[in-house]
Amino acid sequence: MKTDFLDATKQSLKIAADYLKKQEVVAFPTETVYGLGADATSEVAVSKIFKAKGRPADNPLIVHVHHPQQINHYVTEIPAIAQKLIDTFMPGPFTIILKSNGKVASTVTAGLDTVAIRIPDHPIGRALIQEANLPLAAPSANLSGKPSPTTAKHVFHDLDGKIAGIIDGGATGVGLESTVVDATGDIPVILRPGGITKHQIEKVIGSVELASALKEEQPKSPGMKYNHYEPDAPLYLVDGEHDFFQEKIDHFQAQGKKVGVIATKPLIDQINADICYACGNRNNLSEVAAKLYFALRYFNDTNADIILAETYPNQEIGEAIMNRLNKAATNHLKQNI
Ligand code: TXA
Ligand code: MG
Repeated sequence: MKTDFLDATKQSLKIAADYLKKQEVVAFPTETVYGLGADATSEVAVSKIFKAKGRPADNPLIVHVHHPQQINHYVTEIPAIAQKLIDTFMPGPFTIILKSNGKVASTVTAGLDTVAIRIPDHPIGRALIQEANLPLAAPSANLSGKPSPTTAKHVFHDLDGKIAGIIDGGATGVGLESTVVDATGDIPVILRPGGITKHQIEKVIGSVELASALKEEQPKSPGMKYNHYEPDAPLYLVDGEHDFFQEKIDHFQAQGKKVGVIATKPLIDQINADICYACGNRNNLSEVAAKLYFALRYFNDTNADIILAETYPNQEIGEAIMNRLNKAATNHLKQNI
């Protein structure tokens, strides 16, 4: 299949919307990462998403709509707390899980009785949903297991020839996926940390739980592999001061390895490695979030044999950053302080 590389003009959006209406798959920008959209009510269209990404069928998709009122079309009810969350965070980097009324294709929800819904806060993403006049099932537009795409070029790299079109809307803003919150129980539960922080949610509804899988500390034992957000070279997280970091760089260089580093100022100015990718300043974690996936993909075009990454405080947006880094990493090197 030839993939149509589209700009974000009105005319292009019409072409993209026509693909969607014909049950084809189109990648589009959102404020978090690029999404891979298809008509959420069509089993045929949705199956093309799973095929293009190589995504396991038991991992459900988020349904994207352009207006809060549309949420009602796909759920049995909206509890009061959920409504508060919707009013505060949607549109935005926030996904709400509610009881499904069965109107979206069963492959979207992977057979669950719940459905995840999001309203992207991106003019192009929203305009596309409106133009197509369809709810769009859309996972991140990467090959399964790879870092999510934050530019159209990333999507092109992973999915050229496998999907009908890609709309280029420039680099995304937040850089990490939405926060996924299950609002079907009495107390909402964060299933995936993301662009909206736990603290922001607590300010609105008082209390929110973290899914138990997120509460465990996630240090990696050597060789342990999570098939998520993975760069081609193994990624090691390094917890420690610059001298400890340099010791690790020297250690791998002594084995003849080319060492890549993902870090922020001031650390990045205090160490020497073969290839460095600067993710901004440590006191601005939003910038780190925006650049993280870009950094992971950057090293695929280098000859780095191993990537060492700085770690960040596990709070505010740092919680989402560390969640992704832990999933991407094969090892975690800690300084004994
Ligand atoms: O920012 C984002 O959320 C991006 C953009 C494109 O909107 N999308 C995204 O989709 O990250 P994806 O498919 O990569 O991640 C969706 C997450 C998965 O962890 C999936 O398991 C979870 O949401 N999910 C979807 N439906 C669910 C449901 N009914 N119950 C529990 N988890 C669900
Ligand atoms: Mg994804």
